[in-house]
Amino acid sequence: MRQPENIPIPASFSRDQLQTVGDIFVENPRIQCRNVDVYYGEKHAIQDVNLDVGRNEVIALIGPSGCGKSTFLRCLNRMNDTILGCRVNGEIKLDGLDIYADGLDVVTLRAQVGMVFQKPNPFPKSIFENVAYGPRIHGLASDKFELEEIVEKSLRRAGLWDEIKDYLRHPGTGLSGGQQQRLCIARTIAVNPEVILMDEPCSALDPIATAKIEQLIDDLREDYTIAIVTHSMQQAARVSQRTAYFHLGKVIEVGDTALIFTNPRHQLTEDYITGRFG
Ligand SMILES: Nc1ncnc2c1ncn2[C@@H]1O[C@H](COP(=O)(O)OP(=O)(O)O)[C@@H](O)[C@H]1O
Ligand SMILES: [Mg+2]
Repeated sequence: MRQPENIPIPASFSRDQLQTVGDIFVENPRIQCRNVDVYYGEKHAIQDVNLDVGRNEVIALIGPSGCGKSTFLRCLNRMNDTILGCRVNGEIKLDGLDIYADGLDVVTLRAQVGMVFQKPNPFPKSIFENVAYGPRIHGLASDKFELEEIVEKSLRRAGLWDEIKDYLRHPGTGLSGGQQQRLCIARTIAVNPEVILMDEPCSALDPIATAKIEQLIDDLREDYTIAIVTHSMQQAARVSQRTAYFHLGKVIEVGDTALIFTNPRHQLTEDYITGRFG
């Protein structure tokens, strides 16, 4: 759906042009977004967003409902391509490569940049099949034993193995909400992603299940880059190192999570985190 003829990317990029307060750049970026705009038909949902995400970093995307957090997240693995009438302009690079380049294989991209949604959405298949599906279609296992190994490793990494190892043939949909969400994380991990996108992954979960997912996010940072949308500022503070505050489609402020929450520089950020709106 992208229309590459729109909005050329400036060759040189100056900090003076930025409308974002704080440092959009990181030293060791995995993702680099420049001049990203998203339209749904006439609606300009994301406006000139410039943002880097570092390796082994959890970045929290916060802001009032409708400000564009999910839309922005979906740009990062081209999920917006699937929405009729949605256009993405600008430049997004993963490890230095343009993910909107002509001929890029989006199926591979979506394995590299996996996504976990608000509502756990296991396939109506067994626990084993939920995790084995991705490695099978991507040809990651040469035989049955290797596939079993990948499934076990992924379930262990998602902190679920010990709870379900005797029930691998049971349906994934029979698990509790928190277990289902960890199953979805295992499914994402199974295809060797570099980045995991999470869109309010705990909003359907109870506090104990939420705490487990938050712990898991912290563990996963060792191996992956994570971008998480959350409406809980406590959660953002607990799991992320950097936070970006979105407002009406723009990134208003970005920076070190502890600083954003204790010492916001932009009035809009301050209004949001002190609960004046949202
Ligand atoms: N599929 C869509 N079609 C049209 N407009 C959409 C669509 N998805 C989101 N929007 C609009 O884009 C804006 C940003 O939405 P969204 O990214 O869902 O915000 P958030 O995740 O921050 O709540 C909102 O105004 C919303 O109504
Ligand atoms: Mg959303």
